[in-house]
Amino acid sequence: MPVRKSQTAVRRSSSAKTPSGVKRRAVPASPKPAPADSAVAAGFYHDLVWNLRNGVLAVTRDGRIAVMNEVAYRILALPPRTTDIGRPFTQVLKDQPDVSRIVAGAFELSHLPNRAELRLKSTGKVIGYTLSQVRDSRGRITGATLFFKDLTRVEQLEERERLRDRLAALGEMAAAIAHEVKNPLAGIEVMAGVLKRQLPDSEDAQSILRDIIKEAKMANAIVLEVLDFVRPIRLQVERVSLADVVRDAISMAESHIARGEVQIQVALPEDLAPIQGDPHQLRQLFTNLLTNAFEALGGTGLVRIAAHQLPPEEEPSAGAESQAVPMIQMEVTDNGPGIPADVMERIFSPFFTTKPQGSGLGLAIVRKIVDAHDGRIDVSARPEGGTRFGVTLPVSGSHELFR
Ligand SMILES: Nc1ncnc2c1ncn2[C@@H]1O[C@H](COP(=O)(O)OP(=O)(O)OP(=O)(O)O)[C@@H](O)[C@H]1O
Ligand SMILES: [Mg+2]
Repeated sequence: MPVRKSQTAVRRSSSAKTPSGVKRRAVPASPKPAPADSAVAAGFYHDLVWNLRNGVLAVTRDGRIAVMNEVAYRILALPPRTTDIGRPFTQVLKDQPDVSRIVAGAFELSHLPNRAELRLKSTGKVIGYTLSQVRDSRGRITGATLFFKDLTRVEQLEERERLRDRLAALGEMAAAIAHEVKNPLAGIEVMAGVLKRQLPDSEDAQSILRDIIKEAKMANAIVLEVLDFVRPIRLQVERVSLADVVRDAISMAESHIARGEVQIQVALPEDLAPIQGDPHQLRQLFTNLLTNAFEALGGTGLVRIAAHQLPPEEEPSAGAESQAVPMIQMEVTDNGPGIPADVMERIFSPFFTTKPQGSGLGLAIVRKIVDAHDGRIDVSARPEGGTRFGVTLPVSGSHELFR
């Protein structure tokens, strides 16, 4: 097991050391060591804390940091410093006042919550934590520990589930309405056609009937689009080269909207791993993003498509075992006018559009395809202007059917 002691904040000091040099107060020993303890090297406790996959933060009764492992630093977005041991926790956690307040609560509250959640204001991350008091053999409080885990990804998955449920309900309703509307629409179109043939000499009637037929056809196209959107995606998974997907998506987007003077930069690494996905759906995903970018640019500007491989991520799963999945992040950026903040949170909602001719389904479909691939999508305004969409896809995923 790799032990990165050089970075650890579980500092060794000359006083109160165990044989391997671990500070006693960092990992308090049991008052009456069991016989088996002698078989366990004292350094084991240090390694144990350091290698825990949860954040661990312990403070002494006088409010000083006793233990802070690497995961704790990472989750709290603080630079790891061995010199933090022994410093007042209020100073070390000054950029995380919420966490500081929780730790202080360990000495003030009579009843500590078993498990609670907190959204860190600084990073927006959600942590799940357990707070406990440290007591000595006589029951006196000598410190407090905070165990915590980054739940942001779990939250995202829950949000995705909620969205799936919402879309499923919306989908059922939309499908039922669309189905009901389809027949009368077809009837209107047929009857208008009959009337058109019966009134060949009236130019006014011909013009009105032409409009009726055109409108009925348009309404029918919307109904078909809605039906297509609410239909569950059944992925036809195969080994897909993202470079091929991007190349095809560019041609498809260009066939939807004139690209004009817009430049396209594709920066995909040569050795980008192929992914397990549905090439048709992935093509659709990037076509929709590129179409939006071309529309935002209105004939001039730059669209950049880049990709990088991300280190394997632990995917929270329903079972006890979580899996590390290598991910690829694709980025589609443009230097267009950008998305106003008040519009940003609605862009993935079905039928939300700011365009006179838009159906508002482009990004809803993008999200649906990303979800079906067990991926995620984020959008941000670029500081230099324009929009950045990040699509993160697992190299291989469970690809459940989109429900
Ligand atoms: N790259 C972008 N730059 C600026 N605004 C964007 C960009 N991408 C999306 N948007 C905004 O998000 C809205 C929703 O996009 P979406 O693709 O879902 O629908 P649409 O493009 O309006 O219509 P459709 O794609 O169905 O033709 C757009 O109307 C636009 O306001
Ligand atoms: Mg669109």
